[in-house]
Amino acid sequence: MCQRNHIKLISKTKKYTLHKIHHEFLEKLRDIYPEREIKSIFFIVLKSVLNFSNIEYIFHKHESIDANKLPEIKTIINRLKKNEPIQYILRQTEFCGISLFVNKHALIPRQETEELVEMIIKDVQEKRNRVNILDIGTGSGCIAIALKKKLPKSHVTAVDISRQALKVAIKNSHLLKSRILFKRVDILKKNHPLYKQKFHIIVSNPPYVLSSQKKDMHKNVLEYEPEKALFAPDKDPIIFYHKILEFSKKHLATEGSIFFEINPMLKNEIIDKANSLGFKQLRVVKDMNGKERFIIILKEKGNRVLGRGIGV
Ligand SMILES: C[S@@+](CC[C@H](N)C(=O)[O-])C[C@H]1O[C@@H](n2cnc3c(N)ncnc32)[C@H](O)[C@@H]1O
Repeated sequence: MCQRNHIKLISKTKKYTLHKIHHEFLEKLRDIYPEREIKSIFFIVLKSVLNFSNIEYIFHKHESIDANKLPEIKTIINRLKKNEPIQYILRQTEFCGISLFVNKHALIPRQETEELVEMIIKDVQEKRNRVNILDIGTGSGCIAIALKKKLPKSHVTAVDISRQALKVAIKNSHLLKSRILFKRVDILKKNHPLYKQKFHIIVSNPPYVLSSQKKDMHKNVLEYEPEKALFAPDKDPIIFYHKILEFSKKHLATEGSIFFEINPMLKNEIIDKANSLGFKQLRVVKDMNGKERFIIILKEKGNRVLGRGIGV
């Protein structure tokens, strides 16, 4: 096992061993997170601050760390205690195998959304290679960038209403050398710059949480993640889906597909809206937790099976 500069291997009796820090995470955060989550946060911090893997921890846990690193770790614990998500503290997260910059202006990408990206990649690779893709409500740029990385021949446009979120997405596209066209667009308004184009794939993970679901949400989401990215308007919770479907009637190319991430509670309303707008070929797909999380709408004849699909 290699030795690290920031580990003083001889000072086993010193106060702050890795093991002690692990223990401190568990002690200080146990009222906020379940133990399993605290462990995974601890290992994220270990990797980020000390460049240590889980395995290396096992071999070095009784060694004390470089005292210079302690203040940073203490600050992280204090911010975690205030419910701040670890991704915002470290300004970094992982999505589809890529490392993304994040801050409080952009939603932290979720695992379900990785599944959405995987379905699109599979769909494009099966059908065609050179596609025009539109990501509506791009946030950190996670979907757009992951798609461009895996489908380099595609042309990807990504839009968001939030200037600050777009700054995050643009920063990520520069960091990852990913050529994407970003535009500030309010999808609820008509006559924005997108109305001149056609797309083969339209993907969106729009705000879909209902205000009635707030009571079940963790403080780290409610107090830190952007409200505009999370919540659907009470008076018309499917408005984003409605407007995107209307837009897609004209701007989705023949044989193109819409990929939506959805709130399972809104599934029927979205399907009814799509049907009423003439979209008849729909599939609902469950996520890895068995929740009806995605709706895929095809502008072609014949339903193909995509993932764990349920025909509608
Ligand atoms: C649930 S977040 C999704 C972010 C990212 N695509 C992801 O999957 O992690 C929804 C995004 O939609 C954006 N948004 C909200 N209202 C919008 C509107 N009227 N037009 C365009 N984007 C909007 C928010 O700023 C936010 O970035």
